[in-house]
Amino acid sequence: MRYLSTCAALMLVAPAFAQEAPDRAEGLAAWDRIFTVTAHPRCTNCHVGEEGQPMWQGLGYGPEAVHGMNVRAGESRIGAESIPCDACHVTSAAANTVPHAPPHIDDAWRLPPVELAWLGKSSAEVCAQLRDPETNDGHDIASLVDHLQNSAFVNWGFAPGAGRSVPEGTLDALVHDVTVWGAAGTPCAGDQG
Ligand code: HEC
Ligand code: HEC
Repeated sequence: MRYLSTCAALMLVAPAFAQEAPDRAEGLAAWDRIFTVTAHPRCTNCHVGEEGQPMWQGLGYGPEAVHGMNVRAGESRIGAESIPCDACHVTSAAANTVPHAPPHIDDAWRLPPVELAWLGKSSAEVCAQLRDPETNDGHDIASLVDHLQNSAFVNWGFAPGAGRSVPEGTLDALVHDVTVWGAAGTPCAGDQG
């Protein structure tokens, strides 16, 4: 009787599970789409490393161009040690319309902590970074999704205005891909077996 009911329970659960849990290949495909976003200049211009120099990539200054006027974010990541970001990047919810003006969002412009640096890193490196709370600001998948949906920076990245290019896809598609990648067990290309 117990055997039969376990069987019946499995028959009920198995097809639903097969439909809902994406496999490793689907997870990796979702990751590839996520990486086209995280590798885009609208994101990597801020997600830079220790040198603390934001980038002006994709703004017509050449592919490796660092922020003009010798701007350094410093350890504070807001330029407190030299010229603060908010000397030029004001906090405002108004649309960005003027090309080459310092972009504004409804939050204080700043660089992410050093361990969230993505600039120049491979897909496998950023993948490993983004699934590890030590290098993703302490997020699990649910809070990562929450950050993507609610961060003024991420929202600006998909709608920067003023003639700036945007990553492929939409923010909703990115959120969907992160959910699929998470449900597949956050696979990365470099994983064993
Ligand atoms: C003296 C003024 C000034 C200061 C200070 C300044 N910026 Fe900028 N920033 C600009 C201007 C102007 C642009 C737009 C350049 C363009 O589009 O040609 C810009 C663009 C950027 C971009 C590129 C945005 C994109 O489209 O991808 C980033 C990132 C950035 N700034 C970050 C920072 C950070 C972080 C700080 C503080 C550490 C800072 N900036 C301080 C003037 C400034
Ligand atoms: C103006 C700078 C800036 C830009 C542009 C920016 N971010 Fe961030 N990002 C930050 C900061 C700062 C944090 C750290 C959390 C905070 O202070 O809000 C962060 C944190 C994150 C996090 C959570 C921590 C992590 O790295 O795992 C994700 C995910 C993220 N950003 C995604 C993006 C994506 C995707 C884009 C492009 C569409 C983007 N960001 C563009 C500044 C930026």
